Amino acid sequence: MRRILTGIRPTGPLHLGHYIGALKQWIELQDDYECYFLIADVQALTTHEKNPKLIRQAIKDVVLDWVAVGLDPFKPNVHFVLQSAIPELTELTTYLSMVTPFSWMESNPTIQAEKKRIKKVSTGFMYYVVSQAADVLFVSPDPKSTRRKILVPVGEDQVPHLRDTNNIAKRFNRTYGKTFVECTALVGDVGRLVGTDGQEKMSKSLNNAIHLRDDEKTVRDLVMKMYTDPKRIGADIPGTVEGNPVFVYHNAFNPDGDAVRNLEGRYRAGTVGDVEVKQKLYAALVEFLKPIWAKRKQAEKSLDVHDVLEDGTLHARRLAIQTLERTRDNIKLMKL
Ligand code: TRP
Repeated sequence: MRRILTGIRPTGPLHLGHYIGALKQWIELQDDYECYFLIADVQALTTHEKNPKLIRQAIKDVVLDWVAVGLDPFKPNVHFVLQSAIPELTELTTYLSMVTPFSWMESNPTIQAEKKRIKKVSTGFMYYVVSQAADVLFVSPDPKSTRRKILVPVGEDQVPHLRDTNNIAKRFNRTYGKTFVECTALVGDVGRLVGTDGQEKMSKSLNNAIHLRDDEKTVRDLVMKMYTDPKRIGADIPGTVEGNPVFVYHNAFNPDGDAVRNLEGRYRAGTVGDVEVKQKLYAALVEFLKPIWAKRKQAEKSLDVHDVLEDGTLHARRLAIQTLERTRDNIKLMKL
């Protein structure tokens, strides 16, 4: 089976943006691949170093949300992995950092954006891209026995990191001999879901997110407040559908394509009000979320989050130990 690895920072409950950008794909892939779903709690510390309590709570939320959307850690090929419980990743990060020019970190777009936002970035934050390379490369099979790449299903914001990962892998291989295979980013069709306010990204901190575990009333309030076409001050004014959040969401979550086409036609013609479009979106979202709510409720009652993480992490750790041994061998570190 080919290997998949992907991850998420545990910083809060998951939302529809996570679903569209990542989870939807992961669910489809879990039938056919050996899957490592990583909860990157160390990476979460790079920006939430003062709030480890939040990270601990978020780890539980992520596991419950994952199970609620249909990831199945009881499949023999599916592993939920806790990053901080694999100390080998830290050591691997150190070796990888030796072949990584600092300028690569400085030119990574996420690093650049965060540097503008946060005044004093930590050293740990500056090299988290190397640490993410270790997250991916620890599942690398020995390139002497296979050329199959590691698949990494992610949202499009992660693509630059994976390019860095491959550059690091190549440089390591050139320096010390073939140690890692490269990875391939798999980006879903929708990529990124706009926020309910029309901003480019859905995010808890922007207050424009619909979370998977929000209740009906919250979903309703968020949908009814959603940003639409600002030029449309009455139901009889022709509106724009493209890029309009209500229609982006209809297309992503309403399974009734004919009904969506019909609404789009009437919206363009100025013969439907925003309220009707939103009410229909609300109804579609509730239908979409209902099974997720039911599964989450069941998981809250019966799932042992600790056990699930322990099982998955143990499995992953065995791989990490093998990969690290190959890495040390290839660097020709002295053995004692
Ligand atoms: N950087 C990712 C995010 O912010 C999380 C992540 C950590 C990740 N390690 C990874 C994603 C390895 C893919 C592969 O969501």
